[in-house]
Amino acid sequence: MRILALSGSLRQESFNTQLLRALPSVAPCHMKFDIFDGLAGLPHYNQDLDVEDPPEPVRRWRTAIEEADGLLIATPEYNNSFPGVVKNAIDWASRPVPSAALLGKSVCVMVATPGRNLGRNCMADLSRVLHDCHAHVISGPNLIVNEANNRLQEVKDETTGENTTTIVDPFVQRIATAQLHALAEAV
Ligand code: FNR
Repeated sequence: MRILALSGSLRQESFNTQLLRALPSVAPCHMKFDIFDGLAGLPHYNQDLDVEDPPEPVRRWRTAIEEADGLLIATPEYNNSFPGVVKNAIDWASRPVPSAALLGKSVCVMVATPGRNLGRNCMADLSRVLHDCHAHVISGPNLIVNEANNRLQEVKDETTGENTTTIVDPFVQRIATAQLHALAEAV
């Protein structure tokens, strides 16, 4: 199972990026994670550039999604929604309409925030937009990591393995379930 992971934060010490980097050590070994490193290089969406031969960073982003079994987005909440860089990446991946990379793709949304009881609006907005792009969206309050500054230590600390699974298990189960649904539909 190949998962393309996208951090919605460009920040060097991002909690969301740290969360994605920590996942392979606690996920089942059949899950392989590739963290997409080209978010900052994506141009602002411009329909004039969205031609048969779009810019190389856009081709790389679309191909990376197409080749993955699932896309995992871990993102901060900015002003009660999701960051503009994430929307820009989604806009590129939502076109061209008949063969868009997001079409039918299993996409799991996680939100990591140092805040308490925050992240729900980001989760809801991002899930709706992805759903409207016809992705199979896996989301939910249990995929919001509040107080990420404290809880990330659980993921990184190998001696607290039980705690790590409380963060990672829901994602693993949901991706697997989505895959089973897709398989069932294909039969
Ligand atoms: C934030 N932050 C924030 N946090 C939150 O839980 N809800 C929110 O609405 C916002 N709004 C917001 C707006 C802007 C412009 C910034 C820069 C920050 C705080 C945010 O969660 C915090 O900076 C995280 O550390 C950002 O995630 P990364 O970069 O650590 O992954």
